[in-house]
This record gives sequence, C-alpha cells and structure tokens, in this order.
Amino acid sequence: MCGIVGYVGSAGPSGRPLDVALEGLRRLEYRGYDSAGVALVVPGGELAVAKKAGKLANLVEELDAHPLPPATAAIGHTRWATHGGPTDVNAHPHVSGRLALIHNGIVENYAALKAELLAEGVEFLSETDTEVVAHLVSRAYDATKDLTAALAGVARRLEGTFTLLVVHADVPDTVVGARHDSPLVVGLGDGENFLGSDVAAFIGSTRQALELGQDQVVTITPTSVTVTDLDGTPVQAAPYTVDWDISAAEKGGFRSFMDKEINDQPQAVADTLLGRLDLAGHLVLDEMRIGETVLRSVDKIVVVACGTAAYAGHVAKYAVEHWCRIPVEVELAHEFRYRDPVVDERTLVVAISQSGETMDTLMALRHAKEQGATTLAIVNTHGSTIPREADAVLYTHAGPEIAVASTKAFLAQITAAYLLGLYLAELRGNKFPDEVAATLSELREMPGKIQQVLDRSERVREIARWMSDTQSVLFLGRHVGYPVALEGALKLKELAYIHAEGFAAGELKHGPIALIEPGQPVFVVVPSPRGRNSLHSKVVSNIQEIRARGARTLVVAEDGDDAVVPYADEVFFVPQSSTLLAPLLAVVPLQVFASELAHAKGLDVDQPRNLAKSVTVE
Ligand code: F6R
Repeated sequence: MCGIVGYVGSAGPSGRPLDVALEGLRRLEYRGYDSAGVALVVPGGELAVAKKAGKLANLVEELDAHPLPPATAAIGHTRWATHGGPTDVNAHPHVSGRLALIHNGIVENYAALKAELLAEGVEFLSETDTEVVAHLVSRAYDATKDLTAALAGVARRLEGTFTLLVVHADVPDTVVGARHDSPLVVGLGDGENFLGSDVAAFIGSTRQALELGQDQVVTITPTSVTVTDLDGTPVQAAPYTVDWDISAAEKGGFRSFMDKEINDQPQAVADTLLGRLDLAGHLVLDEMRIGETVLRSVDKIVVVACGTAAYAGHVAKYAVEHWCRIPVEVELAHEFRYRDPVVDERTLVVAISQSGETMDTLMALRHAKEQGATTLAIVNTHGSTIPREADAVLYTHAGPEIAVASTKAFLAQITAAYLLGLYLAELRGNKFPDEVAATLSELREMPGKIQQVLDRSERVREIARWMSDTQSVLFLGRHVGYPVALEGALKLKELAYIHAEGFAAGELKHGPIALIEPGQPVFVVVPSPRGRNSLHSKVVSNIQEIRARGARTLVVAEDGDDAVVPYADEVFFVPQSSTLLAPLLAVVPLQVFASELAHAKGLDVDQPRNLAKSVTVE
C-alpha cells in the first residue's frame, strides 16, 4: 500500500533531506502511486510542503518549478488511495498548524474522531482519514509540547491499521513514527537516521536496520533512535543487517524491474536452496524453530496466502501431500480468516507471502495462532511482520521484488515449499535422507533449466507482440499445471489488462468449453509424458477438443513431447523435469508472455493500474 520515508541528518553523508526523501520515495513507489508528497522542517521553525496527485514524477516536476528551501528533516509519502480520491488535496502529508503527518493504513474509527473535531470547530481540507489524525496529534502536541508523547497518545485512540510519521516545526531535528499492523523499519546511519516502510527506502545509504514491533513508537534525531511502546515504556528493538545491496534494487540495464526479476529467477531459486543441506545429506532449515515432536504430530497443513503466493501454495499441496502423506488445504487468507476454520494444536498453518506484510495473510496467521495451531511463514522480506509473529520462518532468498506483479518471489516460494515438504518427509520417515538428497539434487538443476527457458524466450515474445490487441486468453492445466495456468492468467490480467481465466483442464467439459469460439487463444500447460501418462494423454485430448472448436492453441510442453505438435498452433518447449518440479519451468513462458504483451501495449508493467505491492489493508 502506501510507501513512507522519514529522514533526519542534514549534515549526514546522504545529502539534503529532500533528496533523501525523494530517493526513498522512488524506491518505494511500487507500494502505491496515486499521489506523492513531502514535508520538510526548515531551519528557523517553518514547514515546507509539496504534494501532487499521480506518480512521483509529477511531484518532482512541481518541485523543479517551485523549489523548497533547505531543511533539517523530511518525511515523504507515496499513496495508494483508500479514503478520498487520488487528488492533490487528499495527497499526504496532511498539515495541521505547524505539524505535518503521513499515514499508511486505514483508521477505522475516523468518522467518530472527525465528528469530535468538527464539534470543536476544526476545519477539514481533505476527505481522508489521515487528516483527522494530523489534527489530533497537533492538538496533543500543543497541550504537551512533547511530539513523541503526542503521537503515542493519539495512536492509542486509533482503531484500524497504521504507520504514522510526523514532523513539527518546533522540533527541527526530529521525526517520530508509530506503527500498528503496518510496516515501519529504522535505518541506522552515521550522523543521520532513516525511517521507511521497508529497507528499500534507505538501502542506498545504510544496510543497518532495526525491526520495530507491534504498537511501538520511534523517535529519530541525527544521533539517536529511541523506541518505546504506546505507553512510553522503553523497548529494545532488534538490529539486523540487510542481506542485499542497492544493485539488487536497480533495473540493472533491463527496461523494467519486471524484466529484470523474470531474469533473476535462476538466481532466486539457487539462493533459496543455498546452504540448506548438511554434509550427511540432511536438510538443514536453520530458521525452523518448531520442535521435531510438534512437527511429527501434525495431522493437517493449511496454507494461507493471497494471489500469486496462494498459487505457490497450490503447487506445494501436490508436492507435500505426495511426499509426506499429510492432507494439505490451501485457502485464500481473507476467506480462511472469516469462515470459522477447523484448526487445532495438530494443524500446521503455513503463511506464504513475499512482502511479509499482507494484512489478509497476517490476520489469518493470527487467527490460526489463536486457535492453537503451529504457524510457519514462508516470506521474502526480512524484518517484516508475518515472520515476526509466526512460530517459525523459512525465508525465500529472492532479493527485493520491486515490480508490483510477483514473478521471482513465486518461484522462490515454490522452492521453499518443496524444502519444507522434503524436511517433513524426512523427519516423519516418509523419505530417507538419500531420497531427499536425490530430490534436492534435481532441484539444484532447476536454476540451469530455468535459464534455458529464458534463453529460448524470444519466440514467446514474438507471439506476445503479435497478440497485443487480443481481448481474452484462456489458460488450461492439470495437476501442478493447474496453479500454473491460474498464475499465467493472473499475470496477464494485472500486467496487460486483458480478460484471462485459468481452468483445470478436466473441468473444461463441465462448462468453460462454451467460451471457445474460432480464434480464441488458449494456453495449455501439458504434463510430462514420462510421468503420469494418463494425465498427459488426457490433456492432449483436451487440446484436440478445443482445437476442433476453433481455439488457437499455445502449448507449453517438455522437450521431446512430439505428441502435442500436431494439435498446437505454437509449442513452447521447456526442459524435462519431474512432474512435481515442472511448475518452476512451465510458468516462465507465461510470465514472459504477459510482460511482453503489456510492453507491446505501451503499459507500465512495473506499476499496473489500481494495484500496489504489499496490500497492507484488509
Ligand atoms: C500478483 C501479486 C499478488 C501478490 C499478493 C500477495 O502478481 O503480486 O497477487 O502475490 O498480493 O502478496 P504477498 O506475497 O506480498 O503476501
């Protein structure tokens, strides 16, 4: 959702506060791009504020036309609109008197608080929930002359989710932040300090960070960082070092982050596998803080996740059930949370999330914990909330994912889920260490094979460019190919704004085949003919059935599968692999297709309309 940055340290090595704020916003823009704004504290006791609807570029243009004076502290915000449309007035920061405030999240009791302020004669400029908070904190500061206490006191009254940052013209070297169910991390500098929704905000200046917990308030000056709870009791925040650097957050010569991240996938999978096998061939999952007795007693696994991460969970279901003989349910986190699910002490709930901040997934995790379940997070972003709250975490090591639509995190999530499955299978005696080692050795070949798929992707790109005015594309798959089809459809919807739907191929005759008319493009993910032959021939029959009704068939099949050739208008061959690992390869042409088609339509593939990375509101 929104991206937030704060900076103090005008004499620090990073340069002008405004430049640091804009650089932070540039790196956080993937979180929301409905508007952007900054507030500066100007020596002499003034605030300077600029804000503009639309992308960050509009704000930069405004600042070029109307430069702001030098400052000692800055806050910046890039917005994904919730309350109030994406206008200049609704853009953050919101100012009240000599105070400016930015917010990520939703204040659910804002109407009652607003009524209270209106009754006291406060005038509102915007339609946002945030402006209410700005007025409340400004009034609390006027009463106490303590900015930290003022923000903490107001935060105690708020319901909903928030990260808030505030500056006041009276305290020129200070930014104060507070968080409840929304992310905020601290970057530690030398003579300067930083706040950000995630570490990307300050990765160009420091890799030293502090994790903030739930309901904490942080006050930064150029030389100090003080953390308390909402009641003012000091708290020791955990320091950590970010394990990637600025080059990982740059496009590296690619035309978009999406292209770069698709290209990063061999590395993302290799890094997720790295160091997870000991000399005796046993899987070592260092972060696994759940006792072996508990894991042996698990009688059901429930995966909770949203969007692409949920499709990674669907792939995991096939692998984990096959390897471990434990029933696995996969549920969209927002559905799980509100349907009174049956989970207990013997259930392992696995939350999969790239950002580690998705509110729906976080709420599902909390609900599972309340029911007594053991919880495990598969997450990409260190320092995020979901791994902090889960009993254990298995990090994916995909590096920062900047493009809004997920690609490399998907492959890394699937890889981590395979590791979890193999670990449980070994622990529970379903597989011997040598079998686990053999599967891992096959897994280690996957980065090279993914690279081969990328090397062969020119034909996919060519077809995507030809199809740039297509109105609708269907995707079919079966077994692990089914979640691959769903992911192919999702990528096309979000990147290219084309109607796309994924189906289980076996479901075709139960309805969806009615959609087939002459010329309808259909991607079909074909299972290996070497493994489950019955499924291969059934999917080949499905291709024949839709082709007979005029469909244009675009087939993803493994090398050597000549049986598909007579029925395919186009075949995208991928290297051979075992059935359960095949999604790591089969999804790549679909990602490339969606991205290239969106480029051909002239769309911004990194920041598709209406979306934001990291959905931190329910
Ligand atoms: C799709 C996409 C989203 C996310 C979903 C979950 O390309 O990016 O569907 O997968 O919002 O996000 P995380 O993984 O951060 O929990």
